[in-house]
Amino acid sequence: MRTTEVCPVVNIANMCIDSIAADKSISHRSVIFSFLSNQKSRVKNYLFGEDTLNTLKVAIHLGLEVLDSNGNLNDVDSIKHSSEIYLYPRNGINEPSDILYCGNAGTAIRLYMGLLAPNKGQFILSGDKYLNSRPMARIIKPLNSIGANISARCDHTLAPICINGATLKPFDYFSDISSAQVKSAMILSALQIDGVSKFSEISKSRDHSERMLIGMGANLEINSNEITIFSNKNPLNPLDITIPADPSSAFYFAILAAISKDTKVVLKNILLNPTRIEAFYVLQKMGVDIDIEITSSQYENVGNITIKNNNLNAITIDSNISWLIDEIPALAIAFACANGVSKVVNAKELRFKESDRIKATLEGMRAFGVKCEELDDGFIIEGGINKIHQHTIIDSYGDHRIAMSFAILGIVYGVIIKDSACIDVSFPNFLDILKTITEIKNY
Ligand code: S3P
Repeated sequence: MRTTEVCPVVNIANMCIDSIAADKSISHRSVIFSFLSNQKSRVKNYLFGEDTLNTLKVAIHLGLEVLDSNGNLNDVDSIKHSSEIYLYPRNGINEPSDILYCGNAGTAIRLYMGLLAPNKGQFILSGDKYLNSRPMARIIKPLNSIGANISARCDHTLAPICINGATLKPFDYFSDISSAQVKSAMILSALQIDGVSKFSEISKSRDHSERMLIGMGANLEINSNEITIFSNKNPLNPLDITIPADPSSAFYFAILAAISKDTKVVLKNILLNPTRIEAFYVLQKMGVDIDIEITSSQYENVGNITIKNNNLNAITIDSNISWLIDEIPALAIAFACANGVSKVVNAKELRFKESDRIKATLEGMRAFGVKCEELDDGFIIEGGINKIHQHTIIDSYGDHRIAMSFAILGIVYGVIIKDSACIDVSFPNFLDILKTITEIKNY
């Protein structure tokens, strides 16, 4: 198990970062959606992190041809050095001869369930010990209610999952959780079901699937939180996409700017989807200077974000939680350094992520000497830079977002992170960027 030490630095120079890893959500989708076309999709700047490499490997098992511009075919180790890949489902979706291993990737396992449920064949999806303890009934239940044949461990709630392809019926489904993974799985099935289906959710989750599928020619009608999906009569157009940098990955460096005195950070080519940059607006409400500039647009707006430290004041977060869910551990770092008491509520979903993020965040906070209180659906953090301890040891619990959040606090106060290899799940060059600021030791 890898352990990483981040050594503290006193003054952090201004930074301009143009190497933030590509967006994870869009990378997963580009591979999974390519099966809905019968032509070659072109994807530039794919994220070759652990999660999205597993998505590619599963796609290859299902018959997708993955090529790069050097002619490497289905050779993921060579392809992962390519800036451009081509995805060709020459014979559609094939029954695989092995289990489909999704590693740590919740997005992969859940979206593949929606893609595969209406297809002929048997498909067994599994993951690592963390993924196999995350809730899957949120997808299995609605799909089985419309005719899917999906069974799973622990009374059909946990992976490994076994799908026997079946003919599904059109549906009208309301989801009482705001989850882009649930929504995307249901849309993927609906596109392959004869007839018209409707999906609505309690509040709007991230909307990359809708944008990309409409871009591929899918017939979706969107009316605030409700989506009408007309089945695909013909295969969709292929994707031709350059994946922008991931705002959730970029956000760690926004936190660095927010907690270090007089440091300005410029983040380049960041995905500016409104459902993904809410955390930057939270920092702005806390008093940080944030400037967002749109530079281009393809399926989504892309641009640069400039962050400059200013007085950091406490805040209460009780809404738009699904737009912040991946950034709350990093925001907790800003809360610890802010003046006053910050609070997060209505965020029980945090308990069902790569780790129980409420527990993992607060355990790390306590190790740094930060006073905090656990709530069933969130937490309270008492801020104040004078109370934070130096050189602390924390456990990531295998959760990339916990590891990277505390690494940022470590740049100012020093930290040793246990179980740090998970960083590669979403941001394989994160520590390389940190090395330009401070000393990093891996054990
Ligand atoms: C994701 C959706 C979110 C997010 C996850 C990626 C996606 O999960 O936490 O990291 O790509 O659709 P939920 O939609 O389940 O909240």
